[in-house]
Amino acid sequence: MERQDGAIGIFDSGVGGLSVLREVRAQLPNEALMYFADQAHVPYGPRPLEEVRAFSEEITRFLLEQGAKLVVVACNTASAAALHYLRGKFPHVPFVGMEPAVKPAAEQTKSGVVGVLATPATFQGALYASVVERFAQGVTVLQDTCPGLVGQIERGALEAAETRAILEKALYPMLERGIDTVVLGCTHYPFVIPLIRQIVGETARVIDPAPAVARQVKRVLEAVEATRLSSESVPIRYYTSGAPASFDAVLSVLGMERGPVRGVRWQAGYIQEI
Ligand code: DGL
Repeated sequence: MERQDGAIGIFDSGVGGLSVLREVRAQLPNEALMYFADQAHVPYGPRPLEEVRAFSEEITRFLLEQGAKLVVVACNTASAAALHYLRGKFPHVPFVGMEPAVKPAAEQTKSGVVGVLATPATFQGALYASVVERFAQGVTVLQDTCPGLVGQIERGALEAAETRAILEKALYPMLERGIDTVVLGCTHYPFVIPLIRQIVGETARVIDPAPAVARQVKRVLEAVEATRLSSESVPIRYYTSGAPASFDAVLSVLGMERGPVRGVRWQAGYIQEI
């Protein structure tokens, strides 16, 4: 595909970052958007941080080659593993990343107990330790890695019994310990908010950081004077290192805007267009 100079590049291990993409689309409808799903390697969560860092570097390089002016690391795991490294490696590129929204959770909780759902790699990273240390003094922070949940969402099984069972296993013990706030520390999880609500009830807070991340994208674009001036919107471009037809099918299940889906292939650590 020809380059798309001046697009915002967004990536994730799979379909999770689409929860960020849809907010960016809503807040910045005139920006050109490219989305990269590394479905050849999903899930990232159980992988060593160094491996996720290497994937993130090559995906960033690929998005820059396609013309990206800003890169959104729409994945908590990749942000934990690589955001700091990417900023050093590509010093002229503006990046926006994710960090678990422990700060607003700690500010808003009344019970003083909050639950964070994220991947093992996110919990291991220095970024998570630092947000808990800085913002959650005096608050009890419970954690769960929800094994298997990313896979269920990748398959579009948003309401399946197995998906519910994974969430119940994570959330019931947290509810018993008094959580009133749930932090979605993985970009896949906003797609199962309806199920989470059924389990935690309507009064608990469920924090999806995507709107705040999209606002940050807008601020960064304005700060570097890189806002797209054209008022005509262009279709979103999708790339996947998995199967394009399956990705396209899941786009519909997730209620996402459609656009051309291109397959890419990993070859000896590099990404090639097919
Ligand atoms: N969506 C991702 C995150 O925010 C990654 C999930 C995974 O691949 O394990 O952490």
